Amino acid sequence: MKIAHISDIHYSKSWMFLRDMLEDCIAMVNQENPDIVIITGDVTDYGLRAEFEGVRDELKKIQSPYLIVPGNHDSRHEGYKKFEEFFGKRFFVKEIDGYKFIGLDSSEPDIDEGRIGRAQLEWLQHHISPQSVVFLHHHLVPIPYTGRERNVLVDAGETLKMLDLHKVPLVLSGHKHVPWVWKVNNTVVSTAGTVSCERTGSNQSFDIIELEEKRVVVEKVSIKSKNRQKYEVII
Ligand SMILES: [Fe+2]
Ligand SMILES: [Fe+2]
Repeated sequence: MKIAHISDIHYSKSWMFLRDMLEDCIAMVNQENPDIVIITGDVTDYGLRAEFEGVRDELKKIQSPYLIVPGNHDSRHEGYKKFEEFFGKRFFVKEIDGYKFIGLDSSEPDIDEGRIGRAQLEWLQHHISPQSVVFLHHHLVPIPYTGRERNVLVDAGETLKMLDLHKVPLVLSGHKHVPWVWKVNNTVVSTAGTVSCERTGSNQSFDIIELEEKRVVVEKVSIKSKNRQKYEVII
Protein backbone atom coordinates (compact mmCIF):
# COMPACT_ATOMS: atom_id res chain seq x y z
CA MET A 1 0.00 0.00 0.00
CA LYS A 2 1.60 3.26 -1.11
CA ILE A 3 0.26 6.39 0.62
CA ALA A 4 1.04 10.05 -0.05
CA HIS A 5 0.34 12.15 3.06
CA ILE A 6 -0.01 15.91 2.67
CA SER A 7 -1.11 18.44 5.28
CA ASP A 8 -1.58 22.09 6.16
CA ILE A 9 -1.97 23.65 2.72
CA HIS A 10 -3.46 26.83 4.32
CA TYR A 11 -4.87 28.02 0.98
CA SER A 12 -5.53 31.78 1.24
CA LYS A 13 -4.94 35.13 -0.41
CA SER A 14 -2.17 35.87 2.06
CA TRP A 15 1.50 36.01 1.03
CA MET A 16 1.99 33.21 3.56
CA PHE A 17 0.26 30.77 1.19
CA LEU A 18 2.93 29.51 -1.23
CA ARG A 19 1.04 28.55 -4.39
CA ASP A 20 4.20 27.33 -6.19
CA MET A 21 4.86 24.86 -3.36
CA LEU A 22 1.36 23.41 -3.61
CA GLU A 23 1.63 23.06 -7.40
CA ASP A 24 5.08 21.43 -7.15
CA CYS A 25 3.81 19.10 -4.40
CA ILE A 26 0.86 17.91 -6.49
CA ALA A 27 3.16 17.31 -9.49
CA MET A 28 5.54 15.28 -7.28
CA VAL A 29 2.66 13.29 -5.75
CA ASN A 30 1.33 12.49 -9.24
CA GLN A 31 4.78 11.22 -10.23
CA GLU A 32 4.75 8.87 -7.22
CA ASN A 33 1.39 7.45 -8.33
CA PRO A 34 0.25 6.42 -4.79
CA ASP A 35 -2.73 4.13 -4.12
CA ILE A 36 -4.26 6.89 -1.99
CA VAL A 37 -3.51 10.47 -0.93
CA ILE A 38 -4.36 11.40 2.68
CA ILE A 39 -4.88 15.08 3.51
CA THR A 40 -4.87 15.86 7.24
CA GLY A 41 -6.57 19.23 7.40
CA ASP A 42 -5.89 22.97 7.48
CA VAL A 43 -6.55 23.08 3.75
CA THR A 44 -7.75 26.69 4.26
CA ASP A 45 -6.52 29.50 6.52
CA TYR A 46 -9.80 31.02 7.73
CA GLY A 47 -12.47 28.50 6.66
CA LEU A 48 -13.75 30.96 4.03
CA ARG A 49 -15.82 29.95 1.00
CA ALA A 50 -13.32 31.43 -1.51
CA GLU A 51 -10.53 29.43 0.16
CA PHE A 52 -12.51 26.17 0.00
CA GLU A 53 -13.29 26.83 -3.69
CA GLY A 54 -9.66 27.60 -4.47
CA VAL A 55 -8.19 24.60 -2.69
CA ARG A 56 -10.81 22.20 -4.09
CA ASP A 57 -9.86 23.31 -7.62
CA GLU A 58 -6.17 22.71 -6.88
CA LEU A 59 -6.86 19.27 -5.37
CA LYS A 60 -8.70 18.24 -8.55
CA LYS A 61 -5.25 18.03 -10.16
CA ILE A 62 -4.33 15.05 -7.95
CA GLN A 63 -4.55 11.97 -10.15
CA SER A 64 -4.90 9.39 -7.35
CA PRO A 65 -8.00 9.21 -5.14
CA TYR A 66 -7.73 11.34 -2.01
CA LEU A 67 -9.31 11.39 1.46
CA ILE A 68 -9.50 14.51 3.59
CA VAL A 69 -10.36 15.55 7.17
CA PRO A 70 -10.71 19.10 8.56
CA GLY A 71 -8.21 20.98 10.71
CA ASN A 72 -8.76 23.77 13.24
CA HIS A 73 -8.34 26.46 10.56
CA ASP A 74 -11.01 24.80 8.36
CA SER A 75 -13.52 24.97 11.22
CA ARG A 76 -13.18 28.74 11.70
CA HIS A 77 -16.10 30.98 10.69
CA GLU A 78 -18.48 28.00 10.41
CA GLY A 79 -15.99 26.46 7.98
CA TYR A 80 -16.88 22.95 9.22
CA LYS A 81 -20.23 23.35 7.38
CA LYS A 82 -18.51 24.51 4.19
CA PHE A 83 -16.02 21.65 4.54
CA GLU A 84 -18.91 19.15 4.31
CA GLU A 85 -20.35 21.00 1.35
CA PHE A 86 -17.05 20.84 -0.56
CA PHE A 87 -15.51 17.56 0.60
CA GLY A 88 -18.24 15.46 2.23
CA LYS A 89 -18.25 13.91 5.71
CA ARG A 90 -15.84 15.16 8.39
CA PHE A 91 -15.27 11.62 9.73
CA PHE A 92 -15.72 8.38 7.80
CA VAL A 93 -14.37 4.93 6.93
CA LYS A 94 -13.20 3.97 3.44
CA GLU A 95 -11.98 0.48 2.53
CA ILE A 96 -9.07 0.34 0.09
CA ASP A 97 -7.24 -2.88 -0.83
CA GLY A 98 -8.07 -4.61 2.44
CA TYR A 99 -7.24 -1.60 4.64
CA LYS A 100 -9.83 0.49 6.48
CA PHE A 101 -8.88 4.15 6.19
CA ILE A 102 -10.54 5.91 9.12
CA GLY A 103 -10.69 9.71 9.01
CA LEU A 104 -11.42 11.53 12.30
CA ASP A 105 -12.52 15.13 12.84
CA SER A 106 -10.41 16.53 15.70
CA SER A 107 -11.44 20.15 15.10
CA GLU A 108 -13.84 22.31 17.13
CA PRO A 109 -15.47 25.48 15.75
CA ASP A 110 -13.25 28.54 16.39
CA ILE A 111 -11.04 26.66 18.87
CA ASP A 112 -7.47 25.66 18.06
CA GLU A 113 -7.28 22.77 20.52
CA GLY A 114 -8.18 19.33 19.22
CA ARG A 115 -10.71 16.86 20.60
CA ILE A 116 -12.14 13.57 19.33
CA GLY A 117 -14.99 13.47 21.85
CA ARG A 118 -16.84 10.56 23.41
CA ALA A 119 -19.37 10.10 20.61
CA GLN A 120 -16.72 9.90 17.90
CA LEU A 121 -14.56 7.59 20.05
CA GLU A 122 -17.51 5.25 20.43
CA TRP A 123 -18.04 5.36 16.66
CA LEU A 124 -14.31 4.65 16.17
CA GLN A 125 -14.51 1.60 18.40
CA HIS A 126 -17.07 0.02 16.05
CA HIS A 127 -14.85 0.40 12.97
CA ILE A 128 -11.26 0.08 14.18
CA SER A 129 -9.20 -3.06 13.47
CA PRO A 130 -5.54 -4.12 13.02
CA GLN A 131 -6.05 -3.43 9.30
CA SER A 132 -6.79 0.26 9.90
CA VAL A 133 -4.97 3.45 8.99
CA VAL A 134 -6.28 6.28 11.20
CA PHE A 135 -5.80 9.94 10.23
CA LEU A 136 -6.68 13.20 11.93
CA HIS A 137 -5.42 16.78 12.10
CA HIS A 138 -4.10 17.17 15.67
CA HIS A 139 -1.19 15.36 17.32
CA LEU A 140 -1.64 12.32 19.51
CA VAL A 141 1.79 12.71 21.06
CA PRO A 142 4.02 15.76 21.49
CA ILE A 143 6.56 16.51 18.79
CA PRO A 144 9.72 18.58 19.20
CA TYR A 145 10.42 22.11 17.89
CA THR A 146 6.84 23.29 18.32
CA GLY A 147 7.35 25.57 21.32
CA ARG A 148 5.32 25.09 24.45
CA GLU A 149 3.28 21.91 24.05
CA ARG A 150 -0.42 22.69 24.00
CA ASN A 151 -1.51 21.10 20.76
CA VAL A 152 -1.93 17.45 21.67
CA LEU A 153 -5.57 16.32 21.59
CA VAL A 154 -7.29 16.90 24.93
CA ASP A 155 -8.43 13.25 24.82
CA ALA A 156 -5.20 11.88 23.32
CA GLY A 157 -4.85 9.26 26.08
CA GLU A 158 -8.22 7.61 25.36
CA THR A 159 -7.58 7.73 21.60
CA LEU A 160 -4.06 6.27 21.89
CA LYS A 161 -5.30 3.50 24.16
CA MET A 162 -7.93 2.50 21.61
CA LEU A 163 -5.42 2.54 18.73
CA ASP A 164 -3.00 0.45 20.79
CA LEU A 165 -5.67 -2.03 21.90
CA HIS A 166 -6.68 -2.67 18.30
CA LYS A 167 -3.06 -2.81 17.07
CA VAL A 168 -3.49 -0.07 14.47
CA PRO A 169 -0.24 -0.02 12.44
CA LEU A 170 -0.30 3.60 11.23
CA VAL A 171 -1.64 6.98 12.40
CA LEU A 172 -1.23 10.16 10.34
CA SER A 173 -1.63 13.77 11.48
CA GLY A 174 -0.45 17.35 10.78
CA HIS A 175 -1.15 20.68 12.57
CA LYS A 176 2.15 22.10 13.82
CA HIS A 177 3.96 22.00 10.46
CA VAL A 178 6.84 19.92 11.84
CA PRO A 179 7.47 16.54 10.19
CA TRP A 180 8.20 13.76 12.67
CA VAL A 181 7.85 10.00 13.26
CA TRP A 182 7.26 8.21 16.57
CA LYS A 183 6.61 4.56 17.31
CA VAL A 184 4.22 4.05 20.24
CA ASN A 185 4.14 0.36 21.18
CA ASN A 186 3.37 -1.18 17.76
CA THR A 187 1.83 1.89 16.14
CA VAL A 188 3.76 4.22 13.83
CA VAL A 189 2.63 7.81 14.43
CA SER A 190 3.73 10.05 11.55
CA THR A 191 3.22 13.80 11.45
CA ALA A 192 3.52 15.64 8.13
CA GLY A 193 4.96 19.14 7.76
CA THR A 194 3.22 21.89 5.82
CA VAL A 195 2.92 21.75 2.04
CA SER A 196 2.53 25.43 1.30
CA CYS A 197 2.45 27.64 4.39
CA GLU A 198 5.21 30.15 5.10
CA ARG A 199 4.25 30.34 8.78
CA THR A 200 6.68 28.55 11.12
CA GLY A 201 9.32 28.95 8.42
CA SER A 202 9.95 25.24 8.16
CA ASN A 203 10.99 23.43 5.03
CA GLN A 204 7.76 22.70 3.10
CA SER A 205 7.32 18.96 2.64
CA PHE A 206 5.04 15.95 2.28
CA ASP A 207 5.32 12.23 3.06
CA ILE A 208 5.46 9.08 0.96
CA ILE A 209 4.66 5.97 3.00
CA GLU A 210 4.96 2.28 2.15
CA LEU A 211 2.75 0.24 4.47
CA GLU A 212 3.54 -3.46 4.59
CA GLU A 213 2.47 -6.28 6.91
CA LYS A 214 5.44 -5.98 9.29
CA ARG A 215 7.13 -2.78 8.16
CA VAL A 216 6.35 0.89 7.60
CA VAL A 217 8.69 3.11 5.58
CA VAL A 218 8.06 6.84 5.87
CA GLU A 219 9.90 9.27 3.59
CA LYS A 220 9.77 12.99 4.39
CA VAL A 221 10.16 14.69 1.00
CA SER A 222 11.31 18.33 0.75
CA ILE A 223 9.35 20.09 -1.99
CA LYS A 224 12.06 22.66 -2.69
CA SER A 225 15.25 20.58 -2.54
CA LYS A 226 13.62 17.20 -3.37
CA ASN A 227 15.68 15.69 -0.49
CA ARG A 228 14.13 12.60 1.10
CA GLN A 229 14.59 11.61 4.72
CA LYS A 230 13.75 7.95 5.25
CA TYR A 231 12.47 6.28 8.45
CA GLU A 232 12.05 2.50 8.43
CA VAL A 233 10.03 1.06 11.31
CA ILE A 234 9.42 -2.63 12.00
CA ILE A 235 5.99 -3.23 13.53
FE1 LIG B 1 -1.73 24.28 10.16
FE1 LIG C 1 -3.83 23.16 12.64
